[in-house]
Amino acid sequence: MRQGSKHVCVVGIQWGDEGKGKIVDVLSAEFDVVVRYQGGANAGHTVKIGEREFVFHLIPSGILQEGKVCVIGNGVVLDPRALIDELDQLRRFGIDHEENLWISDRAHVVLPYHRLLDSLRESSASGDRIGTTQRGIGPCYTDKAARLGIRMVDLVDPDRFRALLERNLAAKNAELQRLHGLEPLDLGAVSAEYLGYAERLRPRVRDIGQYLRDTEREGKRILFEGAQGSLLDVDLGTYPFVTSSNTSFLGLGAGTGFSPRKVGTVLGITKAYSTRVGEGPFPTELKDETGDRLRKLGREFGATTGRPRRCGWLDFVAIRYAISFGDIDALAITKLDVLDGFGEILASTGYRAPGGPVGSFPTRADVPVEPVYRAVPGWRRDISRCRSLAELPQETQAYLQFIADESRCPIAMVSVGKERCETIRLDPWLQPSRGGMVAAHG
Ligand code: GDP
Ligand code: IMO
Ligand code: MG
Repeated sequence: MRQGSKHVCVVGIQWGDEGKGKIVDVLSAEFDVVVRYQGGANAGHTVKIGEREFVFHLIPSGILQEGKVCVIGNGVVLDPRALIDELDQLRRFGIDHEENLWISDRAHVVLPYHRLLDSLRESSASGDRIGTTQRGIGPCYTDKAARLGIRMVDLVDPDRFRALLERNLAAKNAELQRLHGLEPLDLGAVSAEYLGYAERLRPRVRDIGQYLRDTEREGKRILFEGAQGSLLDVDLGTYPFVTSSNTSFLGLGAGTGFSPRKVGTVLGITKAYSTRVGEGPFPTELKDETGDRLRKLGREFGATTGRPRRCGWLDFVAIRYAISFGDIDALAITKLDVLDGFGEILASTGYRAPGGPVGSFPTRADVPVEPVYRAVPGWRRDISRCRSLAELPQETQAYLQFIADESRCPIAMVSVGKERCETIRLDPWLQPSRGGMVAAHG
């Protein structure tokens, strides 16, 4: 990263699954602390090391690097069962870094009724499906905003937890019974299960904001790991087809209690093409053989739900929008190797609508836009062994320059495979050509 920028934030700038897990794992080697600040077990961040592939839902992707402190911030909605499963899975791999993990006492707890209500809403006949991961994310953030949430600090206090659970179950059970005709959830059973989780997690719970501010004063370096993608942001994304948290860099401060003014570099991750899981607008989606080919070559199936991801070309209107509101300093381009066999690569540089060109990213998800494409030459070579910009084929270098120019943002990293070593660090960063878009690509 840029020299002197001590703390770095990594965020996805598309609709998630940009390869944040891989990039965070690689960068973690240079940091002391790695922090998740929003989302929950809807995230699926993959890290591949040799034959072993790890998918992290709640634990920051820095956990595999020896001696790194990993932190779950107050902005995360935490499903204790999912977290314990993840910790146990790591143990089975012989990795016991539990003592390096800290959990915010202010993080809200995902409870069984959140998961249940999420699934019920998704399967309702009303036709307004979001295509959620059904991990209880929306209902848990709803309770947080309604000031009914149960936080980690409550979970680790048995008497308080039982009282809050009793109050909440009364309301949730009424909803489950009256609106959905379901059996009520049993207070004793839920309480016993969650108090069991509390026993395990209690030593890991603390005031994270204070911890991060102290850590900063000690001169340590902090890496922040966004989940989902900027276009799934509840405020600035393709509402209502979004998740329920602030997924961009802008969510960092509220999700940690650490001032975003202290973060020096915001690294935006984008694939060399686009994907989206679930419903919602996706102007450059390819519902044809090319889309199927991207899905096959990129193994585009959800890391959390296994659902096939919708695939399409890069969309620079969307990318410029996410870069702009998310204050992105530089890009990391992932999965460039997936494009290896394509003779020609397309990317949308603008939108058209029935009324004429569309100047900016639409606020409404129901306004159809048509992408205006530009084609650039592909390369027919395996680039996964390239370790520097100069080793990449001319056409690949030109595609990267095209991305920098159209995004109006420098490129700091390029990923050409899943492994740590399949990463190219650009130093100096690849800058947009002077004057923005270059005629050579026109
Ligand atoms: P995240 O949610 O942003 O962490 O991304 P996911 O883990 O959901 O999805 C990214 C997928 O692409 C994972 O299977 C990664 O192992 C894989 N991946 C990451 N970078 C690269 C790359 O440069 N090339 C290829 N071929 N795969 C990659
Ligand atoms: P990572 O961190 C891709 C999508 C869901 C759905 C919408 C709302 O791995 O990039 P939710 O369960 O959050 O209420 O679902 O958001 N979604 C993701 N898509 N990657 C993710 O996480 C996602 N997390 C949520 O598919 O469209
Ligand atoms: Mg993912």
